[in-house]
Amino acid sequence: MASFYSLYKTILFTLFVLLTSASSSSSSTYYLSNIVVNSTAEFINHTAISEFRILNRRVLAKCPDPNPYLSITTASNSSLSDEGFVTVHVSGVLLPSKGDWVGMISPSYSDVSSCPFNAIQYQQTGDLSQLPLLCHYPVKAQYLSKDPGYLRCKKKECKKYVKGSCVERSCSASLSFHVVNFRTDIEFVLFAGGFATPCILKTSNKLSFTNPKQPLHAHLSTIDSTGTSMRVTWVSGDRAPQQLQYGNGKSVPSKVSTFTQNDMCSAFPKSPAKDFGWHDPGFIHSAVMTGLNPSTTYSYTYGSDSAGWSGKINLKTPPAGGSDEVRFLAYGDMGKAPRDPSAEHYIQPGSLAVTKAMADEISSGNNVDSIFHIGDISYATGFLVEWDYFLQLITPVASHVSYMTAIGNHERDYVGTGSVYGTPDSGGECGVPYETYFQMPTAAKDKPWYSTEQGSVHFTIISTEHNWSHNSDQYEWMRKDMASVDRSRTPWLIFMGHRPMYSSVNGVFLKSVDEDFVKAVEPLLLANKVDLALWGHVHNYERSCAVYQKECKALPTKGAGGIDTYDNTNYTAPVHAVIGMAGFSLDKFPSDADKWSLVRIAEFGYVRVHATTKALRIEYVNANTRKLEDSFQITRS
Ligand SMILES: [Fe+2]
Repeated sequence: MASFYSLYKTILFTLFVLLTSASSSSSSTYYLSNIVVNSTAEFINHTAISEFRILNRRVLAKCPDPNPYLSITTASNSSLSDEGFVTVHVSGVLLPSKGDWVGMISPSYSDVSSCPFNAIQYQQTGDLSQLPLLCHYPVKAQYLSKDPGYLRCKKKECKKYVKGSCVERSCSASLSFHVVNFRTDIEFVLFAGGFATPCILKTSNKLSFTNPKQPLHAHLSTIDSTGTSMRVTWVSGDRAPQQLQYGNGKSVPSKVSTFTQNDMCSAFPKSPAKDFGWHDPGFIHSAVMTGLNPSTTYSYTYGSDSAGWSGKINLKTPPAGGSDEVRFLAYGDMGKAPRDPSAEHYIQPGSLAVTKAMADEISSGNNVDSIFHIGDISYATGFLVEWDYFLQLITPVASHVSYMTAIGNHERDYVGTGSVYGTPDSGGECGVPYETYFQMPTAAKDKPWYSTEQGSVHFTIISTEHNWSHNSDQYEWMRKDMASVDRSRTPWLIFMGHRPMYSSVNGVFLKSVDEDFVKAVEPLLLANKVDLALWGHVHNYERSCAVYQKECKALPTKGAGGIDTYDNTNYTAPVHAVIGMAGFSLDKFPSDADKWSLVRIAEFGYVRVHATTKALRIEYVNANTRKLEDSFQITRS
């Protein structure tokens, strides 16, 4: 990774020279060297940067004066509910063009003019295309051609009559935008010139949320392994403490936290989080229910009389550590996707199907005790409003069962801030929003590793983004944590972290597997008889044999029903599974694979695990078909 960063800095410097000379020579046209074109293509391939993200790297051109008929309005002038669709109507267009588009801007006073001198700031996100330059990130955008009649002017209106005949006609279009209550008001801006060379034509009326203080997006986590306490975390525009009411009349006040633009990390050039991607997160409330029974259903509400109340929600506590069984879902790299046809920064196309499948599973009473999301959580990466969309997306699952997380590169990494990898993948978040939204039972801030027990499983959950080398804090912690597991109480030891030790997809430029990490930590997994290691980061599903140092120590045999069965009665080595297939565009497998790789499938989905005292059964669910793509079990007699 060190060599990558040196190369990266060299490219940045080259760009700085190129861009400085380009912007001083002309404001409306620019020279783009082949180096930039080629590296842009490279980065789009590696990090799935959308055309929309590149929009923010463009210089605004001068717009011709809009015609006097042009208008952009919303279907309703009333205020916005907590979640819904806003119809935007553009009319009075004399000559419809493919380049006409609408951006949703929030807050409404944001500066969407040109910022040519910010150019160099944005290169460090990994996007090496030409300069930004809307001064503030548009939450989402749609071309007017999304309305199928627009370019052919199906919706006509006569604007000028001469002697009873129409001599000037205009065209119109309607677009639908999905909006969640992210508290700040919004406006819609009509641009011409496409995403590449936008200019502003007209701005809509402003719309506000009916209740920007509304408590929203509750999600649960455990604070220990007893199954008797549950933390609820939610978001509100109100800073005053609120109440969590549960059980039969119990109530506990929330602790309130937030983060500011000053808490975001940055370098030169500035990060998106510190600059054009910033959005006020409101206030994050958290409160802990106590005195619960494990594996039991309760109801809760949260809020206050002044800010508003949530509806009544059912939750299920997980089984206590040391009890006979647990059922959980697990995956990595889910993110979010728009529910409208908009372009957005960093879309993870599988996330909607995966959350829908899991929500169906939970609401159908399919005995889900908890969920584990192993890094690359929202992919907001410095565009903070996207956390609100992500939290809204997971609420149908995360408000009902504990949603336990591990940190990934897209939450934490940033050069010079203590992350193992010096890439700018968090966009300047440096784990601050992640740790505020997802309060796990960790020992301290920016030490996001922990263990927890549910049923017959001990989970050791690490950060691959923080120092894991010998004698580091985290290494010592994982050594002690795994050595302390009482296997008569929790017979199964599952290890989770974001970056895998084994993957057949290993890029040349950006490596999926860090051999230094494997060398440092894999011996601990073997020494402590880890049964199963679950990883994300690579966007597909891959299962290994019982493997150590790339050699199969044991192969599964066919058990009852023909299911692959690893017998750990005589333990040999951990089974590894990459499960980063929950949302991000899928990674294809190469045509050949090493012997340790037994199953390779790239379909959107998640794994469903059922652990008893005798068997650990894993099923890979295809989120679109709901069929099982793979099943295996690890047994011990
Ligand atoms: Fe990742």
